[in-house]
Amino acid sequence: MIEWNDSLLVGYEPIDAEHKALVALIGELYGTLRAGGGRDTLEAALFDLADHVAAHFNHENDLMVSRRYPARADHLLEHRILIDQLDTVLDTIDLIGDEAVLDALSFIERWFADHVHAADARLGAFLARVDRPDP
Ligand SMILES: [Fe+2]
Ligand SMILES: [Fe+2]
Repeated sequence: MIEWNDSLLVGYEPIDAEHKALVALIGELYGTLRAGGGRDTLEAALFDLADHVAAHFNHENDLMVSRRYPARADHLLEHRILIDQLDTVLDTIDLIGDEAVLDALSFIERWFADHVHAADARLGAFLARVDRPDP
């Protein structure tokens, strides 16, 4: 299970704060699964995660648009992969077992770590550079 660690910092505080919240929500999902929390609780937690992911992606997109980030298209394609995965899990939550939910969670956290370490790290470095006040 993914846990917050400073290798996930991208150096742009608003994004780091949202990433920390997403890691916490993924952790809660694991907790719900372990506790055998029932489908309704699991579904609510997954919707909560999907809502936070959507808000976070919108925020990153707004930043990329307003700062004219050159690699925005590629970045959005990566986001699309996670959105599709979350949509699939939510669409099939009544049909799949806990094992499949666990598989989806491990896909989500792998995607998250890979994306944050690469694409978001590049975005964070760019934002930190363009947002630095003039000397
Ligand atoms: Fe991103
Ligand atoms: Fe992100």
